[in-house]
Amino acid sequence: MNKYMQKIFITQKIPEVGIKMLMDKGLEVDVSPKDGILTKDELLESLKSKQYDAVLCLLTNYIDEEVFDACPTAKIFANYAVGYNNIDVSEATKRGITVTNTPGALTDSVAEHTVALLISVALRIVEADKYLREGRFHGWEPIGFLGLDMKGKTVGILGAGRIGFRVGQILKKGFDMNIIYYDVKKNEEFEKELQAKYFESPEELLKVSDVVSVHVPLLDSTKHLINEERLKMMKSTAYLINTSRGPVVDEAALVKALQNKVIAGAGLDVFENEPSLAEGLADLPNIVITPHIASATIPAREGMAVLAAQNIIDFLEGKTPANKVI
Ligand code: GLV
Ligand code: GLV
Repeated sequence: MNKYMQKIFITQKIPEVGIKMLMDKGLEVDVSPKDGILTKDELLESLKSKQYDAVLCLLTNYIDEEVFDACPTAKIFANYAVGYNNIDVSEATKRGITVTNTPGALTDSVAEHTVALLISVALRIVEADKYLREGRFHGWEPIGFLGLDMKGKTVGILGAGRIGFRVGQILKKGFDMNIIYYDVKKNEEFEKELQAKYFESPEELLKVSDVVSVHVPLLDSTKHLINEERLKMMKSTAYLINTSRGPVVDEAALVKALQNKVIAGAGLDVFENEPSLAEGLADLPNIVITPHIASATIPAREGMAVLAAQNIIDFLEGKTPANKVI
């Protein structure tokens, strides 16, 4: 499609389907040979090695001025994720660089993982599994391991985008739970389909929810949306689930709240300083934690690869990519 071969750099191995799409278009594709996340220096070095026309990057790559300077020829950064808080979007905007993401492909996967975390923590699955393996089960106990009866309970969804909507659907249609939500804007479809009630402030929602599930993007305005003060507004019997981005929750405050039984428990797939965990978090019995795997299914990860590749192809062909965010 081009006079010269355009070059793409992919910062870590992604499903083959996306790589193949790019190669089938006659593009030169370099995939980082490192088995793992490139350090900032390694990323800069790789990007300086050729005049790349596009970069396919991951949520673990911090894309800022230095990175843009390292490859001034790349006018598109296609993020292999729905969240793009890892990219300095104001700097990209200033430089006229296009940024794309991969919405939709991972909605079902992330929503299902969210529900799995809720069930695991609220029905005490992981805790009970550990207990059994440790040889502590000495017979049926009438009042041991009591968990949350989910039917009829209220789920507060923070952020009613695709994923929040899907979590609401599963919990409403599967468990007959009541859905309430907070978002910067109302979602009429959510209200109509799930009889979801809109709350104008997160505080009012936190006070009445038995389960709080977070599905907002990470922005300046959502950093520490769940902080010490707001945790204290939650019911002492409530569970917090976060599959969005770690910094949306003040993790140290959450550890304290869980230690002091301010809330009943939490299910987390994302952390404030990944891959590190806040001190004391992993020692808590009343949490279930997974290592940022909510989108880890084959359809989700392949779908994300297809979207990211198509965004690059469209951009290089002079079209507006479907998932352009900047
Ligand atoms: C995963 O966390 C994503 O944002 O796609
Ligand atoms: C992501 O796909 C969202 O809108 O929640």
